Amino acid sequence: MNTKLKRVLITGGAGFIGSHTADLLLSKGYQVRVLDNLSEPVHDNGQWPDYLDQRVERVKGSVTEANDWREALKGVDGVIHLAAYQDLLPNFSRFAETNVKGTMLLYELIVQDKLPVQKVVVASSQFVYGQGKYECPKDGVVFAKDRLEADLEAKQWEPRCPICGEQNLKPLTNSEDHQDPSNQYSISKFTQELTALKIGKNYNIPSSAMRYSIVQGPRQSFKNAYSGVLRLFCLKALSGDTPSIYEDGQQLRDYVHVDDVAAANVLALEDERANYENYNVGGGKPYTVLEFAQIVADVTGRKDWQLEPTGQYRVGDTRHSISDITKLKALGWKPTKTPREAVTEYVAWLKTQDVDFGIVKQSEELMKKMGALRGSKDN
Ligand SMILES: NC(=O)c1ccc[n+]([C@@H]2O[C@H](COP(=O)([O-])OP(=O)(O)OC[C@H]3O[C@@H](n4cnc5c(N)ncnc54)[C@H](O)[C@@H]3O)[C@@H](O)[C@H]2O)c1
Repeated sequence: MNTKLKRVLITGGAGFIGSHTADLLLSKGYQVRVLDNLSEPVHDNGQWPDYLDQRVERVKGSVTEANDWREALKGVDGVIHLAAYQDLLPNFSRFAETNVKGTMLLYELIVQDKLPVQKVVVASSQFVYGQGKYECPKDGVVFAKDRLEADLEAKQWEPRCPICGEQNLKPLTNSEDHQDPSNQYSISKFTQELTALKIGKNYNIPSSAMRYSIVQGPRQSFKNAYSGVLRLFCLKALSGDTPSIYEDGQQLRDYVHVDDVAAANVLALEDERANYENYNVGGGKPYTVLEFAQIVADVTGRKDWQLEPTGQYRVGDTRHSISDITKLKALGWKPTKTPREAVTEYVAWLKTQDVDFGIVKQSEELMKKMGALRGSKDN
């Protein structure tokens, strides 16, 4: 425990990453307060979730409201800011309202009200890399541009070299010195990061931004089924259905366990070397989407699964996303749990929940209707 910080506020603390971070802080002797608006679809009827520890002080309110922040920030020494709007639907302004305005309001109030907050940790995302870093056989290291609609319609999934157009590129790991956010969510996440690191620095509010990869583990909401292969594939497995695997299933993804993310949040909160820095928080080993589906099939005993990609694609999706975790490892952090452990724990948790399995089909249909899922099915 950092003896300078006693009470820590976690925004979005009733959610997946927030509640695990709360558990870790409590186990280390911190007082924990949560600011959460208990919004749908993650929460039902504005109720606090059962998994939130009874010792957590609770403020029901929104990060878009100054008065809610004021109430939540009373007597707080550190803030872990996780509350966010997350989806890939085209309601763009809501990303600015919740994610960008919410974060700016936090810094505005710390400055205006001269609050004694000593550290802020803000949740960013691996999505800020956009298509990310590749090696071109002709041009060396390049940052790929967004993929062309014509390529995707022709099922040519790999991004092109921005210099020569070559499509045979080798994916490389992304390090924190680059970003190219390419959708409403990642633009808002990178703006949150800039707010924390630049405004934080200008006003001497020590801050860190954490670029999480795909976070997995128990309590990940199964109601918000627009994205997230863990919940989608596990829901399909348990409902007797087969998952939709977009593109050709060879997309490389980087999965990190929520316990490791909670540990990274607390490390960034406590370690002064993390001030005004951003960090990747990833699993350290890439898996293809098909490999991940196979893990889910193994864990859930779905030997019958014919894992055939559909040839559909999601607008603005990245082809490969792998984070370089060297920078955070230099502070003493490392990933400790595998995707197989995350799937095993998630499936065990899902079995204790009252799940409406119709949600996966409904969300796929909604994404298609809103233009977020395109391409024709191969099967
Ligand atoms: N889960 C991932 O794989 C992942 C990956 C990268 C980044 N992130 C980031 O991590 C953070 C936490 O994600 P999570 O997976 O725990 O999500 P989650 O949906 O489980 O939790 C988010 C919480 O924020 C609350 N919330 C939403 N809007 C709010 C508002 N206006 N005011 C107050 N509370 C509000 C929700 O009620 C919810 O409890 C987010 O900032 C997200 O962008 C998550």
